[in-house]
Formats: sequence, C-alpha cells, structure tokens
Amino acid sequence: MAPVEIQIDPKRVISEVDPRIYSGFTEHMGRCIYGGLYDPGSPLADPETGFRKDVLEVIRSLRVPIVRYPGGNFVSSYRWQDGIGPRELRPRRPELAWLGEESNQFGTDEFMQWCKEAETEPYICLNMGTGTLEDALGWLEYCNGTSNTYWANQRRKNGHPEPYKVKYWSLGNEVYGPWQVGQMSATDYAKTAFQWAKALKLLDPSIELVACGETGYAAWDGEVLNTLAPMIKYHSLHQYTISAGDHMVNVTGPAGAEKGIEITKSLIDLARIANNVEEDITICFDEWNVWDPKRAIGSLGAEEHYDLSDALAVGCWLNVFVRKADVVKIACIAQSVNVISPVMTSPTGLYKQTTFHPLYLFANLMRGSSLALSLLGSPTYTGPTQPKWIQHLCPPALLDASAVLSEDGREIRLALVNRDAERDAEVVCAFAGVRVREEVRVYEVWSAEGLGVQNSFDHPDKVGVVERAERVEGGKLTLKKHSFTLVCFTLE
Ligand code: AHR
Repeated sequence: MAPVEIQIDPKRVISEVDPRIYSGFTEHMGRCIYGGLYDPGSPLADPETGFRKDVLEVIRSLRVPIVRYPGGNFVSSYRWQDGIGPRELRPRRPELAWLGEESNQFGTDEFMQWCKEAETEPYICLNMGTGTLEDALGWLEYCNGTSNTYWANQRRKNGHPEPYKVKYWSLGNEVYGPWQVGQMSATDYAKTAFQWAKALKLLDPSIELVACGETGYAAWDGEVLNTLAPMIKYHSLHQYTISAGDHMVNVTGPAGAEKGIEITKSLIDLARIANNVEEDITICFDEWNVWDPKRAIGSLGAEEHYDLSDALAVGCWLNVFVRKADVVKIACIAQSVNVISPVMTSPTGLYKQTTFHPLYLFANLMRGSSLALSLLGSPTYTGPTQPKWIQHLCPPALLDASAVLSEDGREIRLALVNRDAERDAEVVCAFAGVRVREEVRVYEVWSAEGLGVQNSFDHPDKVGVVERAERVEGGKLTLKKHSFTLVCFTLE
C-alpha cells in the first residue's frame, strides 16, 4: 500500500493550543475524592491535610491548569454550606446522584487548598438542581468576597483571610438529563440561568461563566446559546465515547465529538449574530473520556479498567482538541482520580492506567500553536460506529493526526494514532517551506500483547511510553499497528 502523506505547513496556524484543554475534574463520586485525592490516616497522605501525596505528584506531572469540582451529577443536590467550618460539626447528608451518603469532610476550603498543592486553578459547578440563586451567590461570596459581608466573613472565620478568586463558574450540570435532580427544559433552563448569570456577575464581574450545553448537536445547545450568549464566556459540552467491545467503535467515537464541536461553533456564531455579541464565546468540553456507564457504575464507582484500545481512543480525543484549538479552549478529562480515570489508587499506592500515557505526552508536549495538516491516502473506515451517524456524516481515516509548532518555535510535533488493528502504517511527513533534521525523538505507546492489554497494581507497566531517537530519511516513518506515536521534528 502507498504510504500516507502528511502535509504540514508551519505557517498555517489554526490557533494557539490553550493549555486549559488538559484540565481535570474531581467529583464527589465513588473513590475520586474520598480514598482518592483525600485519604486521611493513610501513610501516603499528608498527616495535616489528608491529601494523598502520590496523587498530588501525579496530577502535577500532568500540568493540569484547571480542575472542575464538585460534580457532575453530585452537585445537583449538594449544599456547599455543609462542607465548611469545623469538620466535627459538618452534617452527613443523603446524596441523590449516586444514592450514597456525603460526609462533607472534604468541602470548599479543602478543595481550594488541594488545588494550590496540585498547582491548578479551581473551577466550580453550581447546583441548579436543589440549589437556589441565593445559595449560588453565597458560594461565590464565600470564595471571592472581599467586603465586610456575611459569607466572606465566614471564610475568614474558617481561617482563610484571602479570597480564593475563583474565576470559572458553571451554571449547573447536565440540567437536560432525566437522571438529573432538577431536570429542566431548555427554555426553562436558559431563562433561569440568565437570571443567575446577571446576579452572579453583579456580585463579581470578574468571573467567567460557563453555560450548561449538551453534546453539541442537540436542540438544547442552540436554544441555550441563543438566550445565554450575552451572559457567558463558554458553552460546555459533555460526551463519553464507548467501545461496546469493538476496537474500531472505540477509536472512531471521538469523531462524533469533533462533529459536535463543529456544529457548536456554528451555533455560537448564530447566537452571537442574533444577540449582537462582540466578545468571543468558546467551548469548554468539561466532561470527556472513554466510558461505558453500563459497564462500571454503582458500588464500583465507575472504576473503569482501561486497555490499549482505550489509550488510543484517548489519543484520538486529544487530537480532536488540538485540531479544534480555535474554538475549544477548556477540556476536562472526567475524572482525575479512580472514577473513569487514568489514575487508580489503593491504600498502598497508585498505578497509571494505559490512558494516562497519551494524556501525559499531550499535556507536556502538544503545546504551542496548532497547525493545519492534510492527510493524503489514509484509507477511510466505513464499519460500525457509535453514534451510527459517524459512519456516513464524517467517516474517519484509519490514521488520526494533529500537529503543533512547539512554544519555543523549534520543533514540529506530530501526534499520530494508527487505529488499524491489523496493519502497520507507512507515513511520509512533508513540511512546506521549512527543513527538518533527520534525527527525531519518538514517544510510542504500544504493546505486543495486543489491544486488550491493561495495567494493574500487579503489572503497572505493561503499557507505558517507549522513548527513542530515530533517524527519519525523507520524512518516512513506520507506525506500528494499533499504536500511538508522538514524533518531534527539529527545525533546521
Ligand atoms: O463523570 C461522571 C458523570 O457523568 C457526571 O457526574 C455527569 O455529569 C456525567 O453524566
């Protein structure tokens, strides 16, 4: 088969890659908070804060710019006021999203402290289920208030004289969903969220608001954008792709997210035109990952065990965000620890799942300017997809790619997923207007054991990153079947 040609022109910049696309999400769900990032009494935790030191270290290695909190579905029945003040006085409450109990031992102040130690910025999702606008205003005042007012003083009383200056606030979570406490129609949501936005901005004009969007291709997205465009800075999207036990379904799923992003971009443009909005509105993809909710939920707390196929799907997800750098400015992998997560803890340690490795490589290397690229000659996949319409609306190529010009302008970096489970791919990289050195650095995520291989506590390194220097003549590379490869070309 003729090699696939990848044409890259470093002058065709799509946009800066916003580092916030490598953000995270921690929800009071399963073992994400309790037994995950917060584990008081554990020998692995800081004796004072109860924060797991190994978790903090791994989060810092991912250079996570923002972490969303406290849900997710959890937030729709959460009373933030229960999670502040002396721990022994905090009430236990029934928890309606995952039908458990909330001890409130970890709350707003603990989260702010954890963010500081994780070297990340907090992003708070407001309760638009059981919560009122008054609750939301109180939470904002508690976090950001500088006046001599009740909630700001409560924060001071709890030992935090300085405001936390939380910039990102979202107006509810998945309010459209029948699974949601406080589900609303798009019309009702948009009307309520508009009023909330007005009041929140009056209290603190410096905050940036995120509207609750759906998949990007739902009727909800258009209606909500039309009403909220004058009030928001971001429209959120949520999508989880599933493997349904089929590798190609798994790795082509992110093409559905890419379509959702393209449609949302048009919906944003329409809403801005209709509302005379001059300021940019961009996408905050604040929940994404590979997850089959039917496979791991309930008492297991959605603890997915990922294999190599899932790692490649995560590579394809991140390629989408880099390619769409002009409109996706924030993306939060759901979630950061244990729950649907690349990081799994036990009382005695942690291991990195297969999906950790492409995320780590992207977060550390795929920064700078996103470059347009053309893929010539990669066969198109036409088999089953999820959703089915991917097959006929946007059938993906077997090879998936994104490119950046590094922040220092010295390297062109390519992230490549050979989705083909059967065949290696021969590739020729052609650079317009620049010369590159033949010596390249290659980072590969692959296993001879095949697509089903997983890491575990007993075998934490079955899938990792193999780094090597290679000589690439005429831009020719061979990508192993079912592999993720990041190649760094140095400009001459
Ligand atoms: O991340 C798990 C759950 O998935 C979140 O709570 C919810 O927002 C989504 O449906």
